[in-house]
Amino acid sequence: MDKKVILTGIRANNNLTLGNYLGAMLPIIEMAKSRSDNYQVNMFIPDLHSFTTPIDHSKLYEQIIDAARLFIAAGLPTKSANILMYRQSYIPAHSELTWILDCFTGMGELSRMTQYKDKSAGSADDRISVGLFNYPVLMAADILLYNASYIPVGDDQTQHLEFTRDIAERFNAQFGNIFTLPAPLKSQREFFSQEKGIRIKDLVDPSKKMSKSDDSNKGVIFLSDTPAEVKKKIMSATTDSIGVINYDHENQPGISNLLDIYSMVSGKDIKNISAEFTGKTNYGELKKAVADEVVRLIEDLQSKLDKISKAQAVEFLEFSEKAANDQANSILLYAQIAVGLRSKAK
Ligand code: TRP
Repeated sequence: MDKKVILTGIRANNNLTLGNYLGAMLPIIEMAKSRSDNYQVNMFIPDLHSFTTPIDHSKLYEQIIDAARLFIAAGLPTKSANILMYRQSYIPAHSELTWILDCFTGMGELSRMTQYKDKSAGSADDRISVGLFNYPVLMAADILLYNASYIPVGDDQTQHLEFTRDIAERFNAQFGNIFTLPAPLKSQREFFSQEKGIRIKDLVDPSKKMSKSDDSNKGVIFLSDTPAEVKKKIMSATTDSIGVINYDHENQPGISNLLDIYSMVSGKDIKNISAEFTGKTNYGELKKAVADEVVRLIEDLQSKLDKISKAQAVEFLEFSEKAANDQANSILLYAQIAVGLRSKAK
């Protein structure tokens, strides 16, 4: 492996939103396309991570395949040797390395993980799964098994990335250079700084990001919505009483969010979009323009998705899994030899 590895874990959320699509999926696909000449890009579905808190298990398998179909429909190249998309659970080395790393991880350091503290807050101990507690170790294995250098993660995951560096450093200090440390956060940020991912906001409450929530979901557009649903949600988006369109996130968050959506969906630069609309007073006209564009995008994506069969997705996954198993098993073997589970002599 001479190319540096970019690695990203993509949760197979059941119901993807326009926010996920524009803010995460498209940038990842763009990144894979633009970087794969010089880097190996590993995208994987962290399926073992998906039930650290309770889920509907009867749907999980299908959701994973559908996530892969959606990536293909959205333009992820499936024929590049440098782009892999695999399911974590199909690479047994992830589970195995997790166990090994577990034995070099302190209860204390995992207890200090903010995401664990947030997600477990208020629950009785017996209702918090050990999986939730242990999740950062699995995430470290996900990264270390591929010598990954660059991992685009949101703020909620940077602590886990730091932990990955810590555990790799500790292991290396004891056993020699087994693992490649992922780049430090600062270099990660520099590396990904050109990559843009705009946060689309909720249409009803533009102060929070658009994501599936427990309440009505009126402000959330799902990729599976019908054109009528999309129109209705956008036409009733919260705006303001200023009465003039300005691209100004602070004072006109609802309007600015609509302009962002319009820009991303139409592929036109936000500068052109805001120039086109600034000073206009008819909010309804802007909403209608946005609704038309979003409907067009979703209809197009849905028709592309219809053409991607499950078999096609599975074929791509299995092809990737073969390559991923080879990569992961070779690193796992180094770790197994280091801890004395395998013989050095071959
Ligand atoms: N924890 C990540 C999330 O919640 C998903 C994930 C699992 C991941 N393993 C990873 C991301 C390894 C990057 C690298 O979004």
